[in-house]
Amino acid sequence: MLRIIRKTDDGSPTFHVPCMNESYHSMYGAVQESDFVYIDKLLRPLNHPVIRIFEVGFGTGLNALLSWREAEKKKKHICFHSIEKYPLKKKEWKEFGKVLEEWNGDLSGYIRMHACEWEKDVKMGDFFKLQKINADFAGYETEKKYDAVFFDAFGPEVQPELWTEKIFKKIFRMMEPGGVLSTYSSKGIVRRNMQSAGFSVQRITGPPGKRQMILASKPFP
Ligand SMILES: C[S@@+](CC[C@H](N)C(=O)[O-])C[C@H]1O[C@@H](n2cnc3c(N)ncnc32)[C@H](O)[C@@H]1O
Repeated sequence: MLRIIRKTDDGSPTFHVPCMNESYHSMYGAVQESDFVYIDKLLRPLNHPVIRIFEVGFGTGLNALLSWREAEKKKKHICFHSIEKYPLKKKEWKEFGKVLEEWNGDLSGYIRMHACEWEKDVKMGDFFKLQKINADFAGYETEKKYDAVFFDAFGPEVQPELWTEKIFKKIFRMMEPGGVLSTYSSKGIVRRNMQSAGFSVQRITGPPGKRQMILASKPFP
């Protein structure tokens, strides 16, 4: 899959995938979007003794990196599992890292995160453990339970098979009651499929450039 690095409006980089005409993040600001949708709206309000997060789409690792920084800053224990079907090649994450470094400075954490082993819980810092899972989420099954889900697949226009009721039912089973899911898409079909899967769904104001996003929760029985 050809991926081209592009700078977004906040100066942070993203990848563009020409064959899908799709980017990994909002062109209004990659870090701005990740920080808004996943950190501010979902992670920051959580206060479990250990927060177990599952992410669909590890990609550049930006959401994982921001979660790690939040964990160390707020001294919150986070166990972060992220699934990825098309991992970046070493050359790609290194080139992406150079642009991220121009924008953000310290890259040591980013490199460790990409270089670490897959399919293993790896202690990245005092408060953050990461497991990267190289698999297709469509065929993935686990008995593990999570408190939060970052749903960050490609958009429902280009990847409708990942935004179905069946997929959201699988995520629902993977979550603890009271667990919360966040995603950047607010499409009607996404909201309806989540509701059919059992979620309580809220559309809230989105990050700059996006009118709305979705926060969904698994109700207590
Ligand atoms: C919108 S990008 C977001 C990536 C990431 N969260 C980031 O911040 O860079 C979507 C990601 O989902 C991955 N993906 C697409 N289909 C997948 C699948 N069936 N299973 C697992 N990952 C998938 C893509 O390869 C891509 O890395």
